[in-house]
Amino acid sequence: MNERRSGAHAIETMQVEERRYPPSPEFAKQANAKPDIYETGFDEFWTREAKARVSWFTPWADLYKWDAPYAKWFLGGQLNVCYNCVDRHVEAGQGDKVAYFWEGEPENDRRRITFSDLQREVVRFANGLKQIGVEKGTPVGIYMGMVPELPLAMLACTRIGAPFTVVFGGFSAEALSDRLNDMECQFLITQDEGWRRGSRVPLKGNADAALEISPLVKRCVVVRRTGGDVQMRQNRDVWADEILKGASDDPKSCPCEPMDSEDLLYLLYTSGTTAKPKGIIHTTGGYLVGVATTHHYIFDVKPDSVYWCAADIGWVTGHSYIVFGPLCNGTTGIIYEGTPDFPDKDRWWSIVERYKADILYTAPTAIRTHMKWGPEHAKKHDLSSLRVLGTVGEPINPEAWVWYRENIGGDRTPVVDTWWQTETGMIMITPLPGITTLKPGSATQPFPTVDAAVYDEEGKVVPPGGGGYLVIRKPWPAMLRGIYRDPNRYRETYWNRYQDTYFVGDGARVDDDGDFWLLGRVDDVMNVSGHRISTIEVESALVAHPAVAEAAAAGRDDPQTGQAIVAFVTLKGGREGSPEMLKELREHVGQKIGKFAAPANIVFTPELPKTRSGKIMRRLLRDVSEKRPLGDTTTLAEPAVVEELARRGHEEAAKEEA
Ligand code: WTA
Repeated sequence: MNERRSGAHAIETMQVEERRYPPSPEFAKQANAKPDIYETGFDEFWTREAKARVSWFTPWADLYKWDAPYAKWFLGGQLNVCYNCVDRHVEAGQGDKVAYFWEGEPENDRRRITFSDLQREVVRFANGLKQIGVEKGTPVGIYMGMVPELPLAMLACTRIGAPFTVVFGGFSAEALSDRLNDMECQFLITQDEGWRRGSRVPLKGNADAALEISPLVKRCVVVRRTGGDVQMRQNRDVWADEILKGASDDPKSCPCEPMDSEDLLYLLYTSGTTAKPKGIIHTTGGYLVGVATTHHYIFDVKPDSVYWCAADIGWVTGHSYIVFGPLCNGTTGIIYEGTPDFPDKDRWWSIVERYKADILYTAPTAIRTHMKWGPEHAKKHDLSSLRVLGTVGEPINPEAWVWYRENIGGDRTPVVDTWWQTETGMIMITPLPGITTLKPGSATQPFPTVDAAVYDEEGKVVPPGGGGYLVIRKPWPAMLRGIYRDPNRYRETYWNRYQDTYFVGDGARVDDDGDFWLLGRVDDVMNVSGHRISTIEVESALVAHPAVAEAAAAGRDDPQTGQAIVAFVTLKGGREGSPEMLKELREHVGQKIGKFAAPANIVFTPELPKTRSGKIMRRLLRDVSEKRPLGDTTTLAEPAVVEELARRGHEEAAKEEA
């Protein structure tokens, strides 16, 4: 294990963490997961689940084929994701069941969408898209906020068999354009504007700027949300209303396209250790089986559940656990458009109360924010409907875990800390409520059939208590099928470290009970509020500013966002930094990547600490940003640089705290 600060910190916390929460007998009795789930054989488990949870147009012939590092699942099978998520529930008489309760950010802006409504609207949307030229295999980009038309657009694509990529609405025009270009998208679906804490996010405006540099996109469909003024370019842009007006909503007018199990379903771009985002490939059959199965057992979803995953659909959590998993299981879900503090800090709890949500799934950063605001906001509302709570996105500190359970879960609900990644597609390490004895801060056990382990540098299993690299040794149905058009990077990133074993990029430790404790990233990827951002992306954005000569970025622990970005910047021509320049650079990064990636803090320095071979010493920068005593500096070319840097870093940190 390399000497990461968050790793060392997490271990200290964990060793004193001795609280245990065994399942209550009442919960265990009614739980979807029974203890024998862990004894079911690999093939038997996935064969059974694939038959129980998904309807196949053509049954598969082989369960899976593992030709490392490439897996194929449910070979020969044919299915359609939209059919599984929508049509078959209507055919089974569930048309009147609510698929989504949607809450807009402006109060009293609500929609109740049944599975029948969803079917009609998806059919209309798919017909509209076909009318302007979207066909099976046409790549489509989607850049939207949390409006019902976002899952509609995704489902319409899957109905036609058009692969898509959703770009989180917080990304900038440039980030959007990079993704559209990489996938060679021919169509973009967006909206006029989004609502965020009462102000308008110019989605179409950003899309316009992106399309200037994404020439392959020939049509842009615009959903009306705020009604704000936007520019429509003739022959390229079209209002969704217009193409939907005349389109049929009769399912027979637009049958669900039979897709091969291994056909591309979507790409989702994620950060790595280079500036270029990776297009993570997810295919159809294995992905759907994986997300539906995990959703069923991990959240203990019942037919009358009202399930709320409060993530953004633009990230993988939303893809797998707002859209595809829950809809495949015919679950009633909640989608909320805005921020948790609009108009007030009790907004979430008013939503839980109104819809009587029984399951809530969110991120540690959100829990810590609520913790900071205080429990009085939750106390104003009746949260007794809640049965299961979940977290995802980063390690959760035991204090936040316990706060969540006590103040939101009434000290009664299990809390499932679920570990997974964009790449894994589905939850991989997690408690099963009703079976697992919970430990605050631990994601506990690999999901049934998942073969996770902790390795040392040589690829030997680290004995209980020691830290190491998390790996996965067997394939799983929802696993990534590669990085889009970059097989070399796929091998280098995930498969070169150990033979035929998936290298996760997270540190972990297994305790004496075999429970897993996640220790954060081991590469140069930062995790800010659950968003993965690579240091090099932020650095490249900074260096693209005309005043910047050199830049380095590092993550430091942050009580609220998990990590915060500290940037070290050398200006051209020996210029000194200024508050104005700091503001300008933050805005600049916001423009290049998105506001969520803007450094919390910038330290201006005449020089960056480098090794004699010219590599920036990130470990030292992390030490500086953490205000820790400096580690070994003997390989430094100019040891004085770092002392000066430490002084400046401490000054900056003091200012920030003041
Ligand atoms: C981190 C989000 C600790 C981890 C689903 C992983 C976690 C990265 C947890 C993936 C957890 C996610 N405990 N760390 N329960 N869940 N992570 O691709 O570092 O946005 O590699 O997927 O988030 O982030 P991604």
